[in-house]
Amino acid sequence: MARIVTTFPLPDAALDLLRPLGSLAGPEGWRETMDDAEALLCLLTDRVDAELLGRAPRLRIVANAVVGYEHVDRDACRARGITVTNTPDVLTDATADLAMALLLSAMRGLSGAECSLRAGEFHGWGFWDYLGADLSQKTLGIFGMGRIGQAVARRAAPFGMRVIYHSRTRLPAADEAAAGAEWVEFDGLISRSDVLSLHAPLTPDTRHAIDADALRRMRPGSFLVNTARGALVDEAALVDALRDGPLAGAGLDVYEREPRIHPGLLDLPNVTLLPHVGSATRETRTRMAMLAARNVHAVLTGGAPLTPVP
Ligand code: GLV
Repeated sequence: MARIVTTFPLPDAALDLLRPLGSLAGPEGWRETMDDAEALLCLLTDRVDAELLGRAPRLRIVANAVVGYEHVDRDACRARGITVTNTPDVLTDATADLAMALLLSAMRGLSGAECSLRAGEFHGWGFWDYLGADLSQKTLGIFGMGRIGQAVARRAAPFGMRVIYHSRTRLPAADEAAAGAEWVEFDGLISRSDVLSLHAPLTPDTRHAIDADALRRMRPGSFLVNTARGALVDEAALVDALRDGPLAGAGLDVYEREPRIHPGLLDLPNVTLLPHVGSATRETRTRMAMLAARNVHAVLTGGAPLTPVP
């Protein structure tokens, strides 16, 4: 019987689906059970590298229960004929919702205002106190126009925002119209956005796409939102841009060296900092676990994976 290894606790419905296929191991001590594993269910915090694969000679599928897969050595998997899957679509809405929450928080200075209240500094309504920025009539720039980027664009329209985007591939005209978004070159995205929201995958090409040079070219008083991957941004340069301009604020859910947060970010009142919770709703996390389990089920029963990564 196949041995299925999981690095995280699975919901009952996933266990019911997988139990008939063979014994299940993990999450406790999962690394020690890889020698006869045929399937691995894992997360973005699990490095699936050549060393781990070397300990799993029978492995047939790595089923990520997340959408990003930069933590998996895909070349090594391909060379061994191991299928790699992820969980697209099921977390699009939750992540786009959180991007809007961070956008609102950054533009209205919610974290700083709440901290000030908790510190006993709210002495009554003040006409010029706690001023943020309007969303309406502002330009939202989206870097990476996949499913989540498009969902953010659709959410921004009812707030009266103009949407521009830059993606490696331009959307077909119908999708562009549905998202209400205009394609621009990367330089135009950087120089025209009042708020820039990141939704690109982390690849060697996108690492530090938002570096000191790009940050310097952003509009005075603009904002950055990152719900994608921390390393898209040079975090030290971001701290400088928030401290000395041109940025007025930021909303961050992801960091360059999680779980470490750059100390400069922790010191700044104009940044909302969340602990990587983009997809963290009960419904969404359950769908992610179930999709990973269904991918394992498909491959171990001789079918095609539902959501293989390219
Ligand atoms: C979460 O960050 C994911 O990649 O699904």
